Amino acid sequence: MTKKFYVTTPIYYPNDIPHVGHAYTTIVADAIARWNKKQGKEVFFLTGTDEHGKKIAEAAEKAGKTPKKFVDDLIPKFKDAWKKLNINYSRFIRTTDRNHEKIVQEMLQKSFDKGDIYLGEYEGFYCIGCEAYYTEKDLQDGCCPLHKKKVQILKEKTYFFKLSKYQKRLLEFYQKNPEFILPKNKRTEIINRIKEGLRDVSISRTSFDWGVKVPFDKKHISYVWFDALFNYYSATREKGKEKFWPADLHIMAKDIFWFHAVYWPAFLMSVGLSLPKSLFIHGYWTFDKEKISKSVGKVINVEELIRLTSNPDSVRYFLCRATAFGEDGDFSEKALVDRHNGELANKLGNLVSRTAGLIEKIDVIKCESKLLKNLNEKKIEKFMESYELDKALNEIFAFVDVCNEYVQNKKPWATKDGKVLYEVKESILKIADLLWAFIPESSEKIKKQFSAKKIKKGEILFEKIEFDNKKIENDKINKSEKPEGIMTMSAPRAYPEKSSEKISTEGTVNYSEWEKLDLRVAQIKKVEDIEGADKLYKLELDVGKEIGKRIICAGIKEYYKKDELKGKKIIYFSNLAPRKMRGIESQGMLLAASSKGKTVLIKPKSNADAGLRVVFEK
Ligand code: MSP
Repeated sequence: MTKKFYVTTPIYYPNDIPHVGHAYTTIVADAIARWNKKQGKEVFFLTGTDEHGKKIAEAAEKAGKTPKKFVDDLIPKFKDAWKKLNINYSRFIRTTDRNHEKIVQEMLQKSFDKGDIYLGEYEGFYCIGCEAYYTEKDLQDGCCPLHKKKVQILKEKTYFFKLSKYQKRLLEFYQKNPEFILPKNKRTEIINRIKEGLRDVSISRTSFDWGVKVPFDKKHISYVWFDALFNYYSATREKGKEKFWPADLHIMAKDIFWFHAVYWPAFLMSVGLSLPKSLFIHGYWTFDKEKISKSVGKVINVEELIRLTSNPDSVRYFLCRATAFGEDGDFSEKALVDRHNGELANKLGNLVSRTAGLIEKIDVIKCESKLLKNLNEKKIEKFMESYELDKALNEIFAFVDVCNEYVQNKKPWATKDGKVLYEVKESILKIADLLWAFIPESSEKIKKQFSAKKIKKGEILFEKIEFDNKKIENDKINKSEKPEGIMTMSAPRAYPEKSSEKISTEGTVNYSEWEKLDLRVAQIKKVEDIEGADKLYKLELDVGKEIGKRIICAGIKEYYKKDELKGKKIIYFSNLAPRKMRGIESQGMLLAASSKGKTVLIKPKSNADAGLRVVFEK
């Protein structure tokens, strides 16, 4: 009987397009799913979106859309991003799927009938970003510890889930199942926190209606976490998928670890379902040492990630390799391009193209491959089983180094030794096979290139290969075709400027790109010269309550005197990535009209208050 393997990512909030953090979890899940598939297991890989709740309702309102329309418009962006990264999920679940909503209601009713849900009143500090209540002691200066934003005080009638009842059972469960929380240090953290005592959790809302109706009291809608967590189960209540329950692995970052490690098993115990095997809590990515967040322009979306090296495999490789699994990491564009150039293009790419070039000229002779003995496959498998992807990749690339040295030392181009080439070719095929989980597109190209059939003295040297369920045809190596294109250097290239919402300057600009711009009315509060810069002023702007004070450097010194600018209202681009100019961090640009050496500022009407958003009418 084939073993099954069920792996999930969190279902993401579709209040914006996915960024490098979401891409990380999804790539890791994909690599683990592919690896298990290659091990012969029947794999079910689930991802999707968490579409109910106040956060989405508010984002929709801001965009002037109904919540459903708002999420419907964003889902293709998620699917498209995952397609671009070659994410091979089995199912994309949405919490607005009818089937899921029905199951959430069924589960609420089950838990209610069991006596685990009761009506009460809740007053507490609520962070919309987290969709969660906080106690006073969790807060930092009255702000959510994660989002650093002021929390709201909410008071409402709500149904509670008796989490406190499960305190003992949860502790026993962790004790008996040491593999449930990985890495292990996270397990201790949870146990200590639970020992401090568990409070019942509020699982319904009446203050808004974007959610699943509570079946036993239709005035209430289900609290997002009850709704969201059950997605993992409802996806297996579809035809043919029942066998996948319970999940083998839920992957996530620390931000939502508590909900998965505590609420989730307690909810499942309450409704009498079996519990998942493991949770893996991976590290958190920062961007140039800062929290990835749209408000400070520190996000990088999937398209921009791919554009850096024009290769989705480099993004996948970089994210899996760059940090020890479980550890936090700092993302920088330079680090990604460096790894692409140094490891993928230089080490792997060169080995492949060099060998392919030699095979074109020298006949390969089958022999026993001593070179392959340097590869410790068992070790790699062990790393993959404990989800240490970075270590598995280290091991594979150490072998790539060995192969490169082997070619260098044996000099087959001079000796014309076909046996050496056979050994190297076999090793490359093995490497491609091992790397398929991480860099599928390149791996498939390599395999295709090296599995071409060539008959020498009656021997078939290149075997037919198969992976996933695609058959690779036995192509002949086409001599006129250059054996390259597996991994080419993306150098020479300048590192692109840091930017999240960068606008393409090539060709036509799409509506969607233009709509990303956030233009605001701003008032100039201070004007200062910048030492050594004869065209620039440093301007301090008031951009209203929501955005506050901003500093920009603007090249308008030739056209305006200082006192002509002070107090003036202008149009300001508020969501451009900050940029250092003359040692000053310039936080955006202003709007001006310019022609033939004349530049004038575009003025809003005098009654337009600072902070007002400029809208684009279609
Ligand atoms: N909707 C909930 C999850 C419900 S699961 C039943 C949610 N969504 S989210 O869009 O905020 O996604 C959070 C997850 O995205 C993290 O747990 C992690 O998997 C991924 N990441 C988002 N930002 C990240 C980083 N900066 N670094 C690493 N992972 C990040 O929470």
